[in-house]
Amino acid sequence: MIYSAKVMEHFANPRNVGELADANGIGEIGNAKCGDIMKIYLKIENDTIVDCSFKTFGCGAAIATSSMATELIKGKPLDEALKLTNKAVVEALDGLPPVKIHCSVLAEQAIKAAIADYYTRLGIDPTPIVGVIDNDHDHHDIGCGCDLDD
Ligand code: FES
Repeated sequence: MIYSAKVMEHFANPRNVGELADANGIGEIGNAKCGDIMKIYLKIENDTIVDCSFKTFGCGAAIATSSMATELIKGKPLDEALKLTNKAVVEALDGLPPVKIHCSVLAEQAIKAAIADYYTRLGIDPTPIVGVIDNDHDHHDIGCGCDLDD
């Protein structure tokens, strides 16, 4: 499998790793098939992500996409962070092999879950803002690389 230099670099030196002690939005997304788990921590002030971090138990592509995704949302207002697609994360990494695209969906969904958690803590129903979060997803239709297909 060929990975871009950017993927290898973010895998070797991931940015924003670890827990954020003062996070006020935390999202966790898991993939039941491959067992990967991604947790995103957000510190939000005035509807802006002032800091963020991640913990990923998963493959190299999951680590690289978490790292890049946190770089892309740091300093961004929530409405912009919600627009971050897995496609944009993959493009920022100069691509991923097709079978690893689903790993980047984890990062997109974990960010949405963390923003939903932030709104829930404020007593605001997140669903109209964030939409439905795809947890325990089963995206074998978009090229999961888990080799665990039924
Ligand atoms: Fe990378 Fe499933 S998230 S193999």
